[in-house]
Amino acid sequence: MSFTPTSVLVTGGAGFIGSNYLLHVVPAHPDTQYVNLDALTYAGNLANLRAIEEADNYAFVHGDINEGALIDRLFEEHQFDAVVHFAAESHVDRSILDPTAFVTTNVHGTLVLLQAARKAWEGAKHACRFHHVSTDEVFGTLGMEGHFTADTPYAPRSPYAASKAAADHLVRAFGTTYDFPYVITNTSNNYGPYQFPEKLIPLVIRNAVVGDPIPVYGKGENVRDWLFVEDHCEALDSVLHQAGDQTTWLIGGDQEITNLELVERLLDEVDRATGKPVGTRRSLIQFVTDRPGHDFRYALDSSPVKEALKWTPKHDLSSGIARTVAWYLGNMDWLNDVLDGGYREYYAAQYGSRGMN
Ligand code: NAD
Ligand code: DAU
Repeated sequence: MSFTPTSVLVTGGAGFIGSNYLLHVVPAHPDTQYVNLDALTYAGNLANLRAIEEADNYAFVHGDINEGALIDRLFEEHQFDAVVHFAAESHVDRSILDPTAFVTTNVHGTLVLLQAARKAWEGAKHACRFHHVSTDEVFGTLGMEGHFTADTPYAPRSPYAASKAAADHLVRAFGTTYDFPYVITNTSNNYGPYQFPEKLIPLVIRNAVVGDPIPVYGKGENVRDWLFVEDHCEALDSVLHQAGDQTTWLIGGDQEITNLELVERLLDEVDRATGKPVGTRRSLIQFVTDRPGHDFRYALDSSPVKEALKWTPKHDLSSGIARTVAWYLGNMDWLNDVLDGGYREYYAAQYGSRGMN
């Protein structure tokens, strides 16, 4: 199937994945208009989008996906035929500290967007498409073996995962009940430029540079599958343009590693890039109290997206880590600018009671 949108509402486009997505699609599709709606929470940063902010086919709107009247007005003004929905509260640890915003944005906010799209697309729905950008965490946790597939039953275990699962369920329920046009993508851990330093990889790089302790939860044995963000964005663009209606796609990097091994590789790369003997910074590692309900392992069977849509990630973990470390070291101003008082408060709440020095 081939779908070519003319006017796309991108939600959460000032965040980590959303901004990488816009940096890719705005120049790649000059005949498509992109409107980025973002509430600019602590995780949203317009500085990420400097390279495209003057582009003719890009506009920014500051607003909340929960504001139904605003969303209806934007549909009326821009005649969107696609929505690519990234906006969310995205950090598991924050959802454990307080789940409220996760339900408001990830569940209610998704419903508001679905309602607006359903109303606007009445009569023309098959020429339109709602793309929900979701996560592998909806499937729960794996042991040492096996992979999630699109048929794996949902079993979310954190408030964040539960809110994303609820949003996926709403999207599919709209498909079944209202014959609503959607695609869903469930993706593994992304990393790369512009990721907020509450997430493991940028947090490790930042702490390594300033010489702060590196918090590793539990024994560092949990396993994640890492996908370089630019590869993810290429897959998202392929799904929007080529996937069949009402389909779900799992997008993983096939780069599994334990947290401790990943942290050691990152620290060694920072040593290498800063001219220190490799291994010096490993002494910064500090094992701290584990995350409650910590999912042991995620892994996705991405063979359908590779076979049907001919997508292949261009980065393995080695090249992705090298690019990511180089980007953060070259953009320390970006890093320092996002670390305001709110970050320090969060950091104290999250790590103060976990046995950090
Ligand atoms: P992020 O936290 O970096 O960015 C979220 C963006 O959404 C920010 O720009 C923020 O300002 C905006 N936002 C938050 N609440 C909003 C609201 N109510 N109205 C409008 N805008 C709002 O998140 P991310 O890591 O870029 O993740 C993007 C999406 O991808 C999320 O839906 C997340 O669940 C999903 N996802 C992320 C990963 C990952 O590894 N980061 C993996 C799989 C899926
Ligand atoms: O799997 C996809 C998900 O990946 C996305 O849906 C989420 O939005 C995204 O935040 C990410 O979730 P994780 O919880 O896996 O990512 P995080 O970077 O927070 O943690 C990665 C692993 O590292 C996890 O096992 C917890 C561990 N960790 C994390 C932090 C922040 C530590 O050991 N120490 C830390 O300080």
